[in-house]
Amino acid sequence: MNQLQQHIRKQIETTGPISVADYMMQCLCHPKYGYYMGRDPFGREGDFITAPEISQTFGELLGLWAAITWQQMGSPSPFHLVELGPGRGTLMKDALRATKAVPGFQDAAHIHLVEISPVLKDVQQEALKSEQIHWHDSFTNVPDGPAIFIANEFFDALPIRQFEKGEKGWAERFIDLDPDTDGLRFVLRKDEAARALMPEGLKDKPEGGLFEVSPMGQAIAHGLGARITQQGGAVLALDYGYTEPGFGETLQALKNHAYAPVLKNCGEADLTAHVDFTTLARSFIEAGAKTWGPMNQGDFLERLGITQRFQALLPHANDEQRPDLIAAHKRLCSPDEMGTLFKVICATHPDHPAPAAFE
Ligand SMILES: C[S@@+](CC[C@H](N)C(=O)[O-])C[C@H]1O[C@@H](n2cnc3c(N)ncnc32)[C@H](O)[C@@H]1O
Repeated sequence: MNQLQQHIRKQIETTGPISVADYMMQCLCHPKYGYYMGRDPFGREGDFITAPEISQTFGELLGLWAAITWQQMGSPSPFHLVELGPGRGTLMKDALRATKAVPGFQDAAHIHLVEISPVLKDVQQEALKSEQIHWHDSFTNVPDGPAIFIANEFFDALPIRQFEKGEKGWAERFIDLDPDTDGLRFVLRKDEAARALMPEGLKDKPEGGLFEVSPMGQAIAHGLGARITQQGGAVLALDYGYTEPGFGETLQALKNHAYAPVLKNCGEADLTAHVDFTTLARSFIEAGAKTWGPMNQGDFLERLGITQRFQALLPHANDEQRPDLIAAHKRLCSPDEMGTLFKVICATHPDHPAPAAFE
């Protein structure tokens, strides 16, 4: 039993079962033992790989998307270019390289990274050492002013609550001590107040149904939506997710590029849940913003010209690099890889014209 599991067991012994959201928060963000707090989990040596780590084209196109969005905003100077959950800083690095030639864009941009992991902050500092970067623990600390927010695989790392329909109706899933082992187990707890979090249409689902909700994701989307409505700007969020609420269970743990048990190896595996794009959109809209999409990542990248970008890179690649480039294009865009599993949503100030790729 690792130290985080001992800590969680002690907490449950003292205060009773904890919600799935509390468990995720501890596993990912515990200041000492949290998954993100003490490691760089990316790449072949790590637990998973993300789009910016698959190909430089991803960050380049998102950078150009941000430059067009800035022009649509009337090219405000200064403005804030903010990335939420920037991982190794690769996306921002590629975005800044691609937008060097856009007149005025980088002179106007104040760059902000919202990151909780001290280890990843160091990695980002190294990747972006020639840039002036401001780090924050929360987007609410980004100074006032027009802003463009980019969030790739950020919302999927936020804690979710889970509800299950059992014999006696809907109840929330909690995590308790397993009396038969020294491990943990799921239990159900009836909580009438929690039903308020569920969409009306789902309350009549048959037994066995499972519903997930991310109050933290909703609160962040609402806060971002309110900010861009009041101060101008846009949010671009890309993540694996679904567009019909009540999709079922998506909570998963990943370790060494393979699925792992959710209730074991606390803090040693990445814990994520697919993003509910309908609810995310509703949070933006309720805050006054306008939403565009969601659309499939493959379509989004194709509309921004990813195929042409790969075609431009291919003649410069050697025999070893060429198959990797072709595989990276397929991985990002193909419907049987990240092309449809990942969705893209944009929120803007209500007066903003259709953002690039969402026309
Ligand atoms: C799955 S990684 C995605 C990294 C990067 N966007 C990419 O595509 O490579 C999630 C990122 O969000 C950060 N993160 C997780 N929870 C966070 C939170 N509550 N606030 C800020 N950053 C968070 C992690 O440390 C990490 O940088």
